[in-house]
Amino acid sequence: MVHNNNNRFRFFFHYSSLAKLTFWSFVFLALILVFFFKSPSSSSSSSSRVMTSSRPSMTSSLASDLYRRSLKTSSWGGPTWEKRVKSSARIRTRNGFCVLVTGASGFVGTHVSVALKRRGDGVLGLDNFNDYYEPSLKRARQALLERSGVYVVEGDINDVALLKKLFELVSFSHVMHLAAQAGVRYAMQNPSSYIHSNIAGFVSLLEICKNANPQPAIVWASSSSVYGLNTKVPFSEKDRTDQPASLYAATKKAGEEIAHTYNHIYGLSLTGLRFFTVYGPWGRPDMAYFFFTKDILKGKPIPIFEGANHGTVARDFTYIDDIVKGCLGALDTAEKSTGSGGKKRGPAQLRVFNLGNTSPVPVSDLVSILERLLKVKAKRMVMKLPRNGDVQFTHANISLAKREFGYKPTTDLQTGLKKFVRWYVSYYGSSKKSDQ
Ligand SMILES: *[C@@H]1O[C@H](CO)[C@@H](O)[C@H](O)[C@H]1NC(C)=O
Repeated sequence: MVHNNNNRFRFFFHYSSLAKLTFWSFVFLALILVFFFKSPSSSSSSSSRVMTSSRPSMTSSLASDLYRRSLKTSSWGGPTWEKRVKSSARIRTRNGFCVLVTGASGFVGTHVSVALKRRGDGVLGLDNFNDYYEPSLKRARQALLERSGVYVVEGDINDVALLKKLFELVSFSHVMHLAAQAGVRYAMQNPSSYIHSNIAGFVSLLEICKNANPQPAIVWASSSSVYGLNTKVPFSEKDRTDQPASLYAATKKAGEEIAHTYNHIYGLSLTGLRFFTVYGPWGRPDMAYFFFTKDILKGKPIPIFEGANHGTVARDFTYIDDIVKGCLGALDTAEKSTGSGGKKRGPAQLRVFNLGNTSPVPVSDLVSILERLLKVKAKRMVMKLPRNGDVQFTHANISLAKREFGYKPTTDLQTGLKKFVRWYVSYYGSSKKSDQ
């Protein structure tokens, strides 16, 4: 990036006269003014509504998302950095794992990293800290990780040089791949970021893993959204997943197919986890339970969607601690990859599991629980479910995960939301402080 810019500048000064310089300076100034007055649009989708407060206006309106993201991923390397990487990844228990966690400062990433570290595994985090939602929350999670002894490398999974370096420094036994562009509706605003993270980024990571010696076993986050427009419930792993309702779902489904390829060609051990609406403390502000809480406290009306013919919209809400147990169970039962140095030596494990709660709750019940916990009456706005990616109903069949690693969720929505609200109020205060 920097290199390119230098070239461009050299070119510029070589070939331009003073007159040209003046002319282009005016054009540039005019462009800046135009951008400045058009200023960042606050669009109406729920995800961007939550984010507006954290947006640094000028730069984000000038640069595309990808450009902005790649700018941020440059600061790594050096002896101190290498020492921190190695120390964080050091295994502290007999037969412990050495795990690279991508998306470590994300919601699930933070909780999984802390749990692994606590039981003595070596854990190294990787996160690009993009501003899809308030980066300050990711920084706060990072601080929590630091206190647990987990170092989070700041970088992108598309940065091949960085990944190579990490695998040179550390011999990872496992990769917990949770980095992704999340959100269903945001895909209509920024489709390329889904391709960048969920497809290109995944392939970049798999390429490094397949060349590594030894190859790590990989557990990664797919999504319940791959069930798309299916109407047969509960959703079972064997059901069709060929009618995604959003680009997000399509990229996760693509990930499952790409996983199949890398398993087949290179002998990588791969386990995909289809998460069902994960919620809890340190959660994601773009999710309904989170911004409902925020808006109820602010006295703002909240949209409650209903399906055709006043059909109930329901979600199989899954509490974060249950998801963490599922992630650890998947890691613990993952077999070794069979290839080495880019060559397959034999068949390897390929799995997909639902991680849900098996009890769908109507979104209106979610709101009632929040009202009780917050002691504030919500202003409900009942609206038709827009056809922009959300599905009406999710319900996981979890018998496969139960059989394979004893997965058994134990937290109901009422109990889990109580913990979330307690965290929310202590983190933000009960007023509207939401972006610091
Ligand atoms: C749940 O999934 C298992 C396979 O893992 C299947 O045998 C069972 O029939 C499914 N149950 C339902 C109710 O769909």
